[in-house]
Amino acid sequence: MERKARTPATPIVELRHVRKVYGNEEGYTTVLHGISFSVRKGEFVAIMGPSGSGKSTLLNLLGCLDTPTEGQVLIDGTDAAALDSAELADLRARKIGFVFQAYNLLANLTASQNVELSLQITETAKPQRKARAGQLLEKVGLGHRTGHRPAQMSGGEKQRVAIARALANEPPILLMDEPTGNLDTASSKDVMKQVEDLWKNQGVTILLITHEKEIADYAQRTLHVRDGRIEKITENKHRGVHT
Ligand SMILES: Nc1ncnc2c1ncn2[C@@H]1O[C@H](COP(=O)(O)OP(=O)(O)O)[C@@H](O)[C@H]1O
Ligand SMILES: [Mg+2]
Repeated sequence: MERKARTPATPIVELRHVRKVYGNEEGYTTVLHGISFSVRKGEFVAIMGPSGSGKSTLLNLLGCLDTPTEGQVLIDGTDAAALDSAELADLRARKIGFVFQAYNLLANLTASQNVELSLQITETAKPQRKARAGQLLEKVGLGHRTGHRPAQMSGGEKQRVAIARALANEPPILLMDEPTGNLDTASSKDVMKQVEDLWKNQGVTILLITHEKEIADYAQRTLHVRDGRIEKITENKHRGVHT
């Protein structure tokens, strides 16, 4: 009789014994002390911890924006260290979207142009870029703001443009570093509504740093970081397991 072994799916992102040490003329600082952690495809994970605990360093390593001093970062089973810089840039462009607290939009470009800029990386033909940017902005509820520049938009709108930009190449992974950190409660809710939709309806894997318990409550699991270590991982049972 045939028996099929049930092998667990490859984690979409995985850290294995990751250490990060920064050095300057005054000496070395260990910012991450051997972190191992993995995220399943379609999972929503929050990262919490005091300021300076290593959250952004962790997220930047997960997003291959930075390299570990020791240990491995695997994206969909691929060891980032095995790739040259062009391959790594390609992996990042295809697999990972980033959203930062300060939006990081270009001030003299419109919402549409900010999104189009990301599309250029994957060589989408120019006439298609504008239409595609319009669709992406529509998706985050900003179809009526395509021609606005950042200064003409609220914080929540700017962050939704940043989300549209992050989604330009349909990455399966979205990394967000305090995306609601500059927003009031109402705008935070608007942004989290988009994040929720991406997770629930589009199967995007989300890792999100936040200081706020109310925001972390959107996630299925919360990784609590302290002094460069995982202090504990809590499950938000009411969120269930997303399949
Ligand atoms: N490029 C760097 N060079 C030296 N030290 C750094 C660098 N980036 C971060 N750090 C230090 O690493 C620690 C963790 O920083 P960070 O990951 O930004 O924390 P968090 O996002 O939790 O506030 C801090 O003490 C910070 O000063
Ligand atoms: Mg930070």
